[in-house]
This record gives sequence, structure tokens and C-alpha cells, in this order.
Amino acid sequence: MSDFDDLLTYIESETSFASSYYEESYLDRRISARMRRTDVQNYGEYRALLRDSTSERAELLDTLSVNVTSFFRDEKVWTALKDVLRELDAGSRSLDIWSAACADGREPYSLAMLALDSGLSSRSVDILGTDIDENALDRARQGVYMSSRTTDLDEQLSFLDSPDQFVKSNGDQISIGQSASDLVSFKRHDLITGDAKDGFDLVLCRNVCIYLDTEYKRPILETVSRSLRTGGYLVLGQTETLPPDIKDRFEAVDPRLRIYRLTESE
Ligand SMILES: C[S@@+](CC[C@H](N)C(=O)[O-])C[C@H]1O[C@@H](n2cnc3c(N)ncnc32)[C@H](O)[C@@H]1O
Repeated sequence: MSDFDDLLTYIESETSFASSYYEESYLDRRISARMRRTDVQNYGEYRALLRDSTSERAELLDTLSVNVTSFFRDEKVWTALKDVLRELDAGSRSLDIWSAACADGREPYSLAMLALDSGLSSRSVDILGTDIDENALDRARQGVYMSSRTTDLDEQLSFLDSPDQFVKSNGDQISIGQSASDLVSFKRHDLITGDAKDGFDLVLCRNVCIYLDTEYKRPILETVSRSLRTGGYLVLGQTETLPPDIKDRFEAVDPRLRIYRLTESE
């Protein structure tokens, strides 16, 4: 076994990170970045550092999990989602929405704010946020976010005319207000090994497949597709695609924005 494989086996068994799901080149880039930061010369030395340092294990997990997200990420998608929500709201039922791989919750909270801002009727909107990463879900449940040198929350929230209705600001920090957080709940779910869900009107599964080994993309896309009711909408990340046989089950509502509508169940 090469030192790199040995390191990956160590990471898989000693941390909660499922390294086998990810493309090797992606893992190598991220691990090498940590090695440069910690001034370590080879994979064997880095494995030893991980064994001895809890803080480096935490740093590596953070680097590998790519929880990168933002409020209203890819604004054009959110403009189109307004119409999707209105169209779904015209039906007679409550709306069930799933933000699959929701990272620290900004995507499901964006959905909640958009639903409220679009004046969806008072019928209930239930938004489920799931992720494989418990730490990200803990942050999501807290619903508290900080602006930083690289993250301008005011700018992200400026997608809405009056975001202050939905968040409380305190210096660089914002917290999600009750009206939006009441619509959202969080749960751990692994999109590769976890069961499909049932009857969702809208599923967002964005920017998770891009990091994964090809063989894991299909089970994820099957899981999210099978979780929709007929007529329900699926939204992928801007660089993600459906394999042809799954795509056949969908009408492309806006192919450029990766918005699809399920026309037939499997
Ligand atoms: C880049 S974030 C995407 C967040 C959000 N959907 C967005 O587009 O801004 C990718 C998320 O996928 C999660 N993830 C990775 N593998 C997963 C799996 N097998 N099941 C569920 N979530 C997973 C990671 O923990 C991370 O939070």
C-alpha cells in the first residue's frame, strides 16, 4: 500500500470523514495544502501528525468536508426559484422541501426566507436540511453566522429587499429569526447510503456531487430523484448534470440553471 493510501485508510478509520467517496485528486490537493501549512514533508509524516494532534485532525476534517456555502448562492437560481415556489403554492397542499447536503444551513434558511418573502400562503412550508457532517448540522441548528474578510453576509442577504425581517444583526454577526427558523428542521442523512425520502415537492442537491468519485454520483442522484413526487422539482449545482437515463424522467424547466421537473417516477 502506498503512503498516500495508508494515510487515506487512516483518515477513514480514525475520523468521521468517508474519504472513499471522494476523488483521489481532490483529496490529494486538500491534504497537500494542509501538509504545506503544517510544514510536513511527506504523507507518512502527516499521518504521524494526525495521530498526535487533535487540532490538526479537526483542521483536516474542515478542509476536506468542503462545507462552503452561502445565502442565496447563485442568485439567478433563486430568482427562478421564486416562480417555482409560487407555482407549487398554487396547488392545494402544504409544501415539503428538502435541502440535501445543506452544509451549515444557509441554503435551507434561504429557502425559508424566500418562501416568506414571496408571500406564500399561510399553509405550512416544511423545509428539511440534511448533511453527512454533524458539526455542520450543529452550526445550522444554531443559525448564527459571522461576516469575515471573505464572507460578506449583508451582500449575500441583499438578494432580498428587506432581509431584516428575517435575521437579527449584531455587528458582524447575524442570527436567523424565528419566522424563518420555524420552517426548517435538520437531520443527519448520508445521500449515498441513506434511504430515499418520499413525496417532496422540491429538492435542492447542489454542489455535493462535484467533489465525489463518479461511482457515488449516481446513487445520490437516484436518492434525490426517488424522493420527489411526480411534478416535483429538482435543482442541482450549476456545474452538475443528470446521467441520461435519470434525465429522461425529468422535464428540463431551466437547463442552464439546472432546474428539472419530475414527469414520471422510476
Ligand atoms: C459544498 S457543500 C454544499 C452546500 C449547499 N448545498 C450549497 O450548494 O451551497 C457540500 C456538502 O455536502 C456534504 N456531503 C458530502 N458528502 C455527503 C453525503 N454522502 N451525504 C450528505 N451530505 C454530504 C458535505 O458535508 C458538505 O456540507
